[in-house]
Amino acid sequence: MKKSLYANWKMHKTKREAESFFAELNHVGHKSVGVACSFTLLETLALHAPRLGVTVGAQTISEYGHGAFTGEVSATQLKDVGVDFVLIGHSERRHLFGESDEKIGKKVERAICEGMDFLLCIGETLEERENGHTESVLKRQMEAALESALEDQLKRMKIAYEPVWAVGTGKAASPKMIDETHELIRQVLKEIYTEEVGDRTPILYGGSVTVDNLEEILAESNVDGALVGGASLDALNFNQMIQMIED
Ligand code: PGA
Repeated sequence: MKKSLYANWKMHKTKREAESFFAELNHVGHKSVGVACSFTLLETLALHAPRLGVTVGAQTISEYGHGAFTGEVSATQLKDVGVDFVLIGHSERRHLFGESDEKIGKKVERAICEGMDFLLCIGETLEERENGHTESVLKRQMEAALESALEDQLKRMKIAYEPVWAVGTGKAASPKMIDETHELIRQVLKEIYTEEVGDRTPILYGGSVTVDNLEEILAESNVDGALVGGASLDALNFNQMIQMIED
């Protein structure tokens, strides 16, 4: 499977900073590269995306459709400004903004209804891993998120395994642990759906990925790509990472 690379600009860039990033970013060719950014930068990114060859991502999506929902940004609006994919269930949304499994399930349903590609982020806390609950936590998160998703709608989904203890901490999971956990995620997909869904769903790793550890993480057979936060903010760094994925 072709490996993909996604940036998650969770540190808020201004429009000017985003423009200078795009000016320094090399064209990515036929590689599969996406950038997820704040709502305010989406139009700027969408403007540069065709020239750069990247896809455009929002960092969350409203679970509601058209209606009176002050402050929410709907899927229709995201598509209108050129968004190709959305992140759903990022650990910061779950833990800092209290997004429940149920809410994340509704967001997945909305993305599917609107025909949008999505990266479903899942991951356990350190306490959950240390107490041997990783499997049950990931399973619970996946079952809730995919409750209403039919098998053929999952072609729009990639899973991003992001252990909470590795996100933004500088402590990435080891390649072996990542590979084993991705295998476990495939097994859960096979249990909920079919062998084929488990085998074909791309599973990315995220959590303190850097230029120094990306290559060894991507070398694992169950890793189909990476979701990079802090280390994706610098264009020269990100250019180096792009070079490491296959064409
Ligand atoms: P990090 O963040 O690479 O800075 O750990 C990952 C993410 O937020 O998706």
